[in-house]
Amino acid sequence: MTHELPKLRYDFSALEPHIDTRTMAIHHDKHHQAYVDNLNQTLEGYEDLQDKSTFELLLELEALPEEIRSAVRNNGGGHFNHSMFWRCMSPKGGGQPGGGLAEAIQASFGSFAGFKDEFSAAASGLFGSGWVWLSMDGEGGLVVTTTPGHDVPFYKGLFPILVLDVWEHAYYLKYENRRADYIVAWWDVVNWDHVAGNFSTAKLNLGLGKAAEWAKTTWQRIEDSWAKLTDS
Ligand SMILES: [Fe+2]
Repeated sequence: MTHELPKLRYDFSALEPHIDTRTMAIHHDKHHQAYVDNLNQTLEGYEDLQDKSTFELLLELEALPEEIRSAVRNNGGGHFNHSMFWRCMSPKGGGQPGGGLAEAIQASFGSFAGFKDEFSAAASGLFGSGWVWLSMDGEGGLVVTTTPGHDVPFYKGLFPILVLDVWEHAYYLKYENRRADYIVAWWDVVNWDHVAGNFSTAKLNLGLGKAAEWAKTTWQRIEDSWAKLTDS
């Protein structure tokens, strides 16, 4: 299996004025493409690993040959995280979630405003390049965490349902050094329907534990259901 750059489900200009067209084009076509290319290059000569999804590779990172472990961690993580990031945004995004996700956010953070403050503070406070996540833990609670580089929350046993890219390449062309302004604008494009779908998937899998067990057989189905939710 050759890893491929996923097609964006909206135009580069669709998230204007919150995320600018040029940033989207370079971010998707250059940065993300480079992670995909580097991942494929890294796996050349490792036939037994070429059929695995990015999710499986990252879950089994410690079992990978040492000479490619860092490259898979960085480029596989870059590919996985960006693929999820594009789906977490929509031209019709913004506002607040409803239903079970809203209740879970209230249970874990007291209110939607409390969650938003905690997530924004984590995004502003993250030193250097990395990602901010809303994830489900093994007990069904929701937590905000950050990861450096292109690391994923799986390493801490968490199942991600929402992600924000705070690498400078995600905002520098429009917002320059004003990361806080980018974070404020990003809330207006969050695709809560998609995040609610991720939340349901996480719930079905009791967080990451069961998803990890099932990864080999069901990951494609999970990805398909995510794609379906975003397409609608
Ligand atoms: Fe990025």
